[in-house]
Amino acid sequence: MSEYLPGLAGVPATQSNISDIDGEKGILSYRGYPIEELAKHSTFEETTLLLLDGRLPTAAVLEDFDQQLRDNRRVKYHIRNLMKTLPETGHPMEMLQTAVASLGMFYPGNECLTGADSCQDLDYIHNMTVKIIARMGTFVAMWEHIRNGYDPIPPRDDLPYAENFLYMLNGEEPDPLLARIMDVCLILHAEHTINASTFSVLVNGSTLASPMSVIAAAICALSGPLHGGANQKVLEMLEKIGTPNKAEEYVDKRLANKEVIWGMGHREYKTKDPRAKILQGLMDKFMAERGGNINPLFEVAKEVERVCEDRLSKKGVYANVDFYSGILYTEMGIPADQFTTIFAIARSAGWLAHWREQLADNRIFRPTQVYAGEPQRSYVPIDKR
Ligand code: COA
Repeated sequence: MSEYLPGLAGVPATQSNISDIDGEKGILSYRGYPIEELAKHSTFEETTLLLLDGRLPTAAVLEDFDQQLRDNRRVKYHIRNLMKTLPETGHPMEMLQTAVASLGMFYPGNECLTGADSCQDLDYIHNMTVKIIARMGTFVAMWEHIRNGYDPIPPRDDLPYAENFLYMLNGEEPDPLLARIMDVCLILHAEHTINASTFSVLVNGSTLASPMSVIAAAICALSGPLHGGANQKVLEMLEKIGTPNKAEEYVDKRLANKEVIWGMGHREYKTKDPRAKILQGLMDKFMAERGGNINPLFEVAKEVERVCEDRLSKKGVYANVDFYSGILYTEMGIPADQFTTIFAIARSAGWLAHWREQLADNRIFRPTQVYAGEPQRSYVPIDKR
């Protein structure tokens, strides 16, 4: 009998060239490039191409790809109308899943994936990849206006991805530092090996479902609070704590009740998540530029992290990427329930890179199980039970 490992912890589910984590040393790289270097020098558009193609693009290739993304930001009015019928009280991740899935109705064609040289219709694969990544930001920004009773702000194709996203959300061109911080946040969240949502991409992609269905399934997996939904939970937690001097009591109470501290811990990292370090650096930079005049929750977060380091580091539990991202998004005027949708915008790049990698060497996922139920028995008629 094969050994069953809950959560498939430590079980390789695929072989991949896309990203790598050294959890002991706290190292993350995309296609061999350290995340720190990409956060410093790259853009979301360039990082996306790196993830998809496996190499840093030349200026001409990047310009062409960037233009394709800009050309694909607009959505059909049918989808806008569909979004307007959704209840404004629904969670934005449910909206995003619906909107992305609906794209599949407008762009059929995945039957090309089942052809003789299956999965080699590179035009279809590329076009759908661009359509999905370009529209993710549009959907999220549109929803913010639609759910508040307004018409969405149309995208601008003279702005880079992060800047256009913030423009569509807030109706004005963003402060350049905030636009760069958003760009870095998108880079940091773009890829992270085989986590729950990416694993769902492999499973769904392996059936040759349409890329829109594959990404809609990944959005579903990301929405849970143990995965992408944690960033919203972190902000709610910090608001509940309120001031730094309440942090210790709050953390100890939760730990005594065997409750998790949101934004702490990671299956892969046994040290501080390198992305959390970069975000903390961005917070410090932003704070310096604003002369310390920044969301007071940052001080609460620092104290929660200090207490958690004292209580949890012996278990290898440290701050993860979600711990600081929410405070930064709040500074950009983004409501907490939209944090996970921003994670999804970024992660669509990694998801589609994995989808393409899966298609290039596909075999449908069909794991086995350890049966622990009743032995075979005879059916009992209803009047004899
Ligand atoms: N708060 C308190 N204790 C935590 C913790 C947290 N956030 N994360 C892990 N631990 C503890 C566990 O209780 C366990 O303690 P034990 O050995 O005494 O039972 C130990 O650390 C190992 O954790 P485990 O649950 O085995 O880790 P995992 O790999 O299964 O889970 C997460 C990883 C991410 C699901 C988990 O750390 C978590 O729930 N974190 C909070 C949610 C979050 O921020 N998610 C975003 C991830 S990017």
